[in-house]
Amino acid sequence: KKAQIIIDKYFLTGKVDKRIFGSFIEQLGRAVYQGIYQEGSPLSDEQGFRRDTLELVRELQVPIVRYPGGNFVSGFKWEDSVGPKELRPARPELAWGVIENNHFGLDEFVDWAKKADTDIMMAVNLGTRGPEEARNLLEYCNFKGGTYYSDMRKANGHAEPHNIKTWCLGNEMDGPWQMGHKTAYEYGRTAAETSRIMKMLDPEIETVACGSSNLMMPTFGDWEYTVLDECYDLVDYMSLHQYYGNAADDTPDFLANSKGMDDFISGVVSICDAVRAKKHGKKRINLSFDEWNVWYHSNAADEKLEKWGQAPHQLEDIYNFEDALLVGSMLITLLRHADRVKMACLAQLVNVIAPIMTSDTGAWRQTIFYPYMYTSIFGRGTVLNTQVLAPVYDSRNYCDVSYLDSVCVWNEEKDTLTIFAVNKSLEEDLEVSCDLRQFEGYQVQEHIVLTNDDMKAVNTEADPEKVVPVKSAASRIDGGKLSTVLGKHSWNMIRLA
Ligand code: AHR
Repeated sequence: KKAQIIIDKYFLTGKVDKRIFGSFIEQLGRAVYQGIYQEGSPLSDEQGFRRDTLELVRELQVPIVRYPGGNFVSGFKWEDSVGPKELRPARPELAWGVIENNHFGLDEFVDWAKKADTDIMMAVNLGTRGPEEARNLLEYCNFKGGTYYSDMRKANGHAEPHNIKTWCLGNEMDGPWQMGHKTAYEYGRTAAETSRIMKMLDPEIETVACGSSNLMMPTFGDWEYTVLDECYDLVDYMSLHQYYGNAADDTPDFLANSKGMDDFISGVVSICDAVRAKKHGKKRINLSFDEWNVWYHSNAADEKLEKWGQAPHQLEDIYNFEDALLVGSMLITLLRHADRVKMACLAQLVNVIAPIMTSDTGAWRQTIFYPYMYTSIFGRGTVLNTQVLAPVYDSRNYCDVSYLDSVCVWNEEKDTLTIFAVNKSLEEDLEVSCDLRQFEGYQVQEHIVLTNDDMKAVNTEADPEKVVPVKSAASRIDGGKLSTVLGKHSWNMIRLA
């Protein structure tokens, strides 16, 4: 098969906001306990933070991490999670049916984020709580001192404000599973007032209103419109969440899901702009795709879990090679919408549906770690409006799916052009060409490929390098034209400079 990538250095989609390479840590399963924090372990530092995990998180160059949930946040009493550890109460945590002992909380997360070299996207509880508690939490985090909650922070050992600038107004409030689930109107009003009050306290913060929990929610569309109708002028972003699975073991259809993600983003952009038009609004609402990933491998095991354990093995998907291909494609999709998607979080970061896994004896990289890492490091710059001419296929749920998913990111400062590409064909290599005459003198720096003969191959602690990237010699530039071969079922990154 043959395909063409067409770019023009004057046709730009937009500048990449590095926050689209964000991730997520929820107080859930072993994400925190045994994941990023394990007191007494020889692998942990003096604060109990796992050193090996921190190293892998830094390898990913994660710019922002959402915390503390997720469904967890809708029952969260943040006051339980600060102050002397021995005084913190243990509580039944209703979202995931466990006991939360609060040994790790807000201030520990702030310290951890500093060590991980990442910013924080903090979520407030708009499920069982409301604007008052959100305001108090913001005062605790961002107020300089001399007030009840800011002095409480100081007394807890943090003299300087945490200065958290990005705030999620609740989580998945459209979902009937959510504690304090609301109708769109109820939520839109609450989000508006919470955001307004929070911005009275700290006008520099940005807030994210909850969109739909996934594209197939029966309220999708109406939800976004009604919520924004209530809070358009008071919030900055609308969230999207989406997970995909391959329970039917239909790989072509599974890999086509990035097209579903693309439709989801375009749909939400249209709704945001429809509300803007109706209101004669000046500002644009941008998108925060703050939960996305593959998630299905652990569903059956999770159903059998006994309730009220502490840090059980929950949502521990073991990712295979085909999952890495879809994750690579989803990252390409996010980049292709860089004009409107300004934040996104791979959900999640450690142990819970995560690129990083840990045990008592070490930490290792799952298959999805690699496309995430390379895109996070090299996908920064300006996205070129990338046209792809490639053969297409139909799958069970999608029509006209391009075998080639691709996007080009130009970093003018560093004078580099990076092409990310996935060949979704399970049978054939793809010969790809791209006219590069506008990028005179550029040469191929490296072509990295992630592929495997076994679509179901996984990395484990015992065998952590089953699926790892390799270098390819298949790309060359001749007479201003790039020609390359993308192997069947492969993720690729071609760096030119
Ligand atoms: O990421 C796991 C869960 O998925 C989150 O808690 C929730 O927001 C979503 O349904």
